[in-house]
Amino acid sequence: MSVFTAAYPIIIDITSNRDSAAQERPKDAVEITDSLMKNRFSCRYYLPKPVEKKTIEDIIDAARCAPSGNNMQPWHKVYCITGTLKDTIAGEMVAANTDSPGAYSAEYLYYPAGPLHPDYARRRFEFGKHFYAPLHVDHGDLKARARVSTRNYDFFNAPVAFIFTINNGLTQGSWLDVGYFLQSITIGARARGLETISQEAPAKYQLILRKHLPIGDDEVVALAMSMGYPDLEKVAQFSAKQPKREVSDIVEFCGF
Ligand SMILES: Cc1cc2nc3c(=O)[nH]c(=O)nc-3n(C[C@H](O)[C@H](O)[C@H](O)COP(=O)(O)O)c2cc1C
Repeated sequence: MSVFTAAYPIIIDITSNRDSAAQERPKDAVEITDSLMKNRFSCRYYLPKPVEKKTIEDIIDAARCAPSGNNMQPWHKVYCITGTLKDTIAGEMVAANTDSPGAYSAEYLYYPAGPLHPDYARRRFEFGKHFYAPLHVDHGDLKARARVSTRNYDFFNAPVAFIFTINNGLTQGSWLDVGYFLQSITIGARARGLETISQEAPAKYQLILRKHLPIGDDEVVALAMSMGYPDLEKVAQFSAKQPKREVSDIVEFCGF
């Protein structure tokens, strides 16, 4: 028995369960997990096939085990919307985006207000090239680009949309925590044949979201996510895989 387990006997069960879970880990766990992560993509085309409420509950049930600083679990609320409510919200967001986009703003800055570091500016530009090419939209055609981005407010016709909020007294650390939760949802969805796209764009229309959802005054609308079964034909026709940085560019091994 370690000093730790002696001092906190309740831990014994947890650690022994974890040990046995490790032993029981299926042989193909690496292959499956890596494939779920490596083949992930932001899905912007969905089949009109409903997603069972139980499936969503199961995904959240797994994702809620994400780590967070001091276990604060700051994924304040997840508003999960479908059906006519989703369509009403989407309709109002699309209309607002057409008629009066200047009247709305998100409660936080997703990107810095000033110029981006050249590495990020370059990658952002590259994203645009890959994103617009299969749609036959010229990078300089701002009207066509705006038409494309309007699909954000329709939740890309996905059968289910999520709105994630964070308490307004929390800071960057907690926003990091929520990122773990979000990626867990993404991978949990993939394991069940579903795809997702994270969306900061709808946060701009938080006033419309607040009109229809019981979002408290102390909640910041952080992100939306669309989810559904992918329309793989359209994905193949209209999307390109976004390039990712190489391991050697990302990691700096020190002391190995
Ligand atoms: C937090 C977050 C917010 C995003 N917001 C949007 C968005 O509003 N609209 C959109 O079309 N894509 C959005 N994306 C998707 C990114 O464009 C996408 O992840 C990136 O281009 C890489 O492509 P991939 O996810 O297919 O690998 C967002 C992604 C993240 C993680």
